[in-house]
Amino acid sequence: MPDGNLKQLTLFYVKINSVAKQTDFLIIGSGIAGLTFALKVAQHGKVLMITKANADESNTKYAQGGIAAVMYAHDSYDKHIADTLDCGDGLCDREVVEMVVRESTQRVQELAEWGAQFDKNPDGGYDLAKEGGHSEHRILHHKDITGYEIERALLDQVHTHPNITILDHHFAIDIITQHHLGVEVNSRTPDITCYGAYIFDTESGKTETVLARVTLMATGGVGHVYATTTNPTIATGDGIAMVYRAKGKVEHMEFIQFHPTSLYNPGEHPSFLITEAMRGHGGILRTRDGKEFMHKYDERKSLAPRDIVARAIDNELKQRGDDCVYLDCTHLNADDLIAHFPNIYKKCLSIGIDITKQQIPVVPAAHYLCGGIKVDKAGRSSLQNLYAVGECSCTGLHGANRLASNSLLEAVVYAHTASQDAIGRFKEINFANGIPDWDAEGTATPEEMVLITQSRKEVQTIMSSYVGIVRSDLRLQRALDRLEIIWRENEALYKRTTISQPVCELRNLINCAYIILKHARLRKESRGLHYTIDYPPVRPLLREV
Ligand code: FAD
Ligand code: SIN
Repeated sequence: MPDGNLKQLTLFYVKINSVAKQTDFLIIGSGIAGLTFALKVAQHGKVLMITKANADESNTKYAQGGIAAVMYAHDSYDKHIADTLDCGDGLCDREVVEMVVRESTQRVQELAEWGAQFDKNPDGGYDLAKEGGHSEHRILHHKDITGYEIERALLDQVHTHPNITILDHHFAIDIITQHHLGVEVNSRTPDITCYGAYIFDTESGKTETVLARVTLMATGGVGHVYATTTNPTIATGDGIAMVYRAKGKVEHMEFIQFHPTSLYNPGEHPSFLITEAMRGHGGILRTRDGKEFMHKYDERKSLAPRDIVARAIDNELKQRGDDCVYLDCTHLNADDLIAHFPNIYKKCLSIGIDITKQQIPVVPAAHYLCGGIKVDKAGRSSLQNLYAVGECSCTGLHGANRLASNSLLEAVVYAHTASQDAIGRFKEINFANGIPDWDAEGTATPEEMVLITQSRKEVQTIMSSYVGIVRSDLRLQRALDRLEIIWRENEALYKRTTISQPVCELRNLINCAYIILKHARLRKESRGLHYTIDYPPVRPLLREV
């Protein structure tokens, strides 16, 4: 289906560029991955960072639980490595897991040196929390708004750096490769090279060409492929779709992590997260009638890895016909609960729930993408001079299921290794010549926005209905049949419509939904986050009790 895209795209590139911007490093995305990479490479060259919303708007900003790292002797690298491998259900790359975990201490210290404040105990040591799948307390956090604090600290550093320019409200449409010089490329072409990107200024409506020696994709996840997600609206899989269209390698897209506990508050979109750290703090999952149920599924009960908890909740809801389950924290010390989770306390109170006295209604929601742009240990994608870091990348760390709080960690470790690799090479890379401007000839402003907004909803409904926590061959086929219709309609719309963020995002969502489906259909087993009733699971849903 979307594999035919590039031929059609040729129509748009016909004029020779006259005023392209040039930069040593083009960074697309201003979450933890992009910002960390920027601070490192900016010591060596000019950085242009573009980001499609306000600079701080990112998944990073909403991270609650924290960042996993081995800090003290009660813990060990070996234990963190074992937990990550166990959670990944046999698909992690062991070498990558070892590298990331062994770097964790140093990279977290670096975040602290840049000004990120992690909570401490009265004795001055870090107050480490525990989350599902972790055998030790090892999560550094800033109350229940860790991501907000990290994003703040990194942006403060970036804003004062003389070598970094940030352009907010600038949207990357497509990366530029030799395809735009008229050279035919396909997925077997060995040296597809990234020369930069076409960027759309969402405020002026102008499209610019940016040429770069090195480009970093740091565009985050794909949560908005689904109807219910914890991700902010920026998470539309743009980077992954761009690389896929450019014939770069993308893998493991079937592994979508559903967070077990988003606040059940019908009508609220995106969903508000209830951090797993609350279960680490002693919170217990119960059904509507007040009964615990997690012991039926895993001996770690409410603190089992996320895929197991989300599937258990999904099963309970289907068996019982309920709309939600409950997280019970009412037995915990109230002052302590409010001190640790002030943001969640405030949010729940705003909808009439006092978490110190009442249970919190929760449901699973799409939360994190384990797959993405395939990269090597230096963060290099399959396209020359294009790196990918953070949630849009697939490093091999997470395998079939990510261990909680390992994603912020992965982003800082790979921002470091990728930056070191890029610093060593960027001066030898020349800017491309003869790249044509973006040409919108033959396109017009869409008269009917409903075609775009409605298609976006349809994609989300299809994916949530048929490609969710539990799948089957039949459901996947049905999703594909329906998605194909929307894809055809949207390609026609895209060709006759002037560039806008909604139209590009819809196209990217459709591309990502298609890749998720394609990869899910190829995986003929139940493993980690990909659970299908047609193939016996590696781990049975219910355990013997
Ligand atoms: P993001 O932080 O998502 O940044 C992506 C950036 O790219 C944004 O600036 C966006 O605007 C920009 N962008 C996207 N597309 C384009 C485009 N076309 N053009 C220009 N710019 C673009 N992980 C943990 O480890 N611990 C946690 O406690 C934790 N809690 C979480 C809680 C919530 C509610 C959510 C949603 C996620 C949580 N995660 C957590 C996951 C983690 O936050 C993300 O995986 C991580 O922050 C991703 O960082 P990133 O830099 O890769 O992407
Ligand atoms: C959470 O706080 O529960 C989210 C942690 C994560 O996604 O790693």
